[in-house]
Amino acid sequence: MREAPIGVFDSGVGGLSVLGEIQRLLPNESLLYVADCGNIPYGEKTPEFIRERCSVMAGFFREQGAKALVLACNTATVAGVADLRRDFPDWPIVGMEPAVKPAAAATRSGVVGVLATTGTLQSAKFAALLDRFAADIKVITQPCPGLVELIETGDLHSAELRTLLQGYVAPLLAQNCDTIILGCTHYPFLKPLLRSMIADDVSLIDTGDAVARQLQRLLAERDLLAQRPSQAVKFWTSGDPQSLRKILPLLGQTASNVQNFDL
Ligand code: DGL
Repeated sequence: MREAPIGVFDSGVGGLSVLGEIQRLLPNESLLYVADCGNIPYGEKTPEFIRERCSVMAGFFREQGAKALVLACNTATVAGVADLRRDFPDWPIVGMEPAVKPAAAATRSGVVGVLATTGTLQSAKFAALLDRFAADIKVITQPCPGLVELIETGDLHSAELRTLLQGYVAPLLAQNCDTIILGCTHYPFLKPLLRSMIADDVSLIDTGDAVARQLQRLLAERDLLAQRPSQAVKFWTSGDPQSLRKILPLLGQTASNVQNFDL
């Protein structure tokens, strides 16, 4: 079981920002990645729809013999992780959530901005996170429709993307925000572009590395850490395998075989 793979999924390529962190921290682990590109964006879908997709993904990874599951998607986590943990109580399941706690600890101006999908920002789980960790700071939330779709085409710095992103970041900076939470796994790929728009003393925080460490902890507790060097990552997409294959190298993955996911 130690050498069994780990299932990782997202609505698209965003979860590759998390996959990269897992590969860095746990180079022995064999990884399976599903990009649900045929159903992107999750951020504009109903929680019921996303819960159904989470259940399909879990079923697929169980069939593949996965020893653990990573929801490399904030939107899928807020909608679906509770049901998955109820349905698979003995399976290590790692979800993501916007980094409100570390941002609240880091801010000096007392103003934190959150860039995330509409679905994440509207969820009860996000509201609970604010109640728990952000009582003493001001949090400005900013949904970012359109960013995910551009990133999915491999666009990380076009003029169109820059204008869209500028429009989302400007209101945060105007309110003296010094810490910006990247609350969607697609957004870490925009860090270079974002850095060119904000002052050096504004921090960008995401949770990919924390998720990789949490996965490591859960596997270690169960004596499930792989001991032998891993195989290449296996990729599936419910969208067009050819276009995913093309984008992979832009997002830190070596081009590999991408299979059709038609569940
Ligand atoms: N990458 C996803 C997240 O972390 C969502 C993207 C989408 O809207 O599909 O929230």
